[in-house]
Amino acid sequence: MANPMENNKAVKMLRAAEEGGYGVVGVVSYNLETIAAVVKAAEAKRSPAQILLFPWALHYSPLLIHLAAAACATAKVPIVLHLDHAQSEEEIMQAATYPFDSIMVDMSHYEKEENLEKTERITKYLHSKGIATEAEPGRINGGEDGVKDTGDLEGLLTTEEEAKKFVNTGIDFLAPAFGNVHGNYGGVENIKLDFERLKGIRSAAAAKSCLVLHGTNTFPDEIMKACVKGGMTRCNVNDLVLYKYNKYVAENTGKVPLTELMGRGTELIQEQIEHQMDVMGSTGKV
Ligand code: 13P
Repeated sequence: MANPMENNKAVKMLRAAEEGGYGVVGVVSYNLETIAAVVKAAEAKRSPAQILLFPWALHYSPLLIHLAAAACATAKVPIVLHLDHAQSEEEIMQAATYPFDSIMVDMSHYEKEENLEKTERITKYLHSKGIATEAEPGRINGGEDGVKDTGDLEGLLTTEEEAKKFVNTGIDFLAPAFGNVHGNYGGVENIKLDFERLKGIRSAAAAKSCLVLHGTNTFPDEIMKACVKGGMTRCNVNDLVLYKYNKYVAENTGKVPLTELMGRGTELIQEQIEHQMDVMGSTGKV
């Protein structure tokens, strides 16, 4: 019987990034403007890209998922649809009925052994449906708009031993906690990225899972580049590409026609995504 994972787009994209030594931008998307900007940027830069939705989308409206899936299907370059931070089995089962290429089985709010057990079981199920999986050994600090708040739980750095155990569950992508923080933490001077730890995690994950980066809100270009050099194959971005758009919308809503608000807003996101494609080195890779 054919392996349902054989043609998984997300695995192919991130394996190619690993081999090519570049990173793929994963854009947290909340609306049409963000999704349109991902497609426009990827096509303009001849770059692979990923559209990331949070579980919020499942509850808000399935139409957002269909829109993102249509964007991936009609784009002239490869674009993957990923569900980020799915935190309950119920949401994951629901998500598996939509055309996601990959789903983050985020059980990091459970204790280590439970996280591992759930990740392994759910990964088997998703693989049988041809959907790739991502997991978070340890626990990345901070929170996000669209993800259930687990901010009362302490962050836990990923160890090499945990990374080994997690890649042995069969996951495709591993999101390490090496000092990175989700959401608004006020600037990189407030965090300490442990690149030595990342090195160890990378060799523990070698040849089994690709590494993916979370928590990039205030990253200067050189830090993003260092993360890609350290093995990150997909770099999740949220405010990093949305902050200009958010400011523009806040200042112009009700003052300019809606079509202008959407059009200029989309351009502002596209410019930031294109910049990140240059920084991560994915420009011209397709
Ligand atoms: P932040 O940079 O806001 O954490 O968003 C990107 C991310 O990691 C989403 O999972």
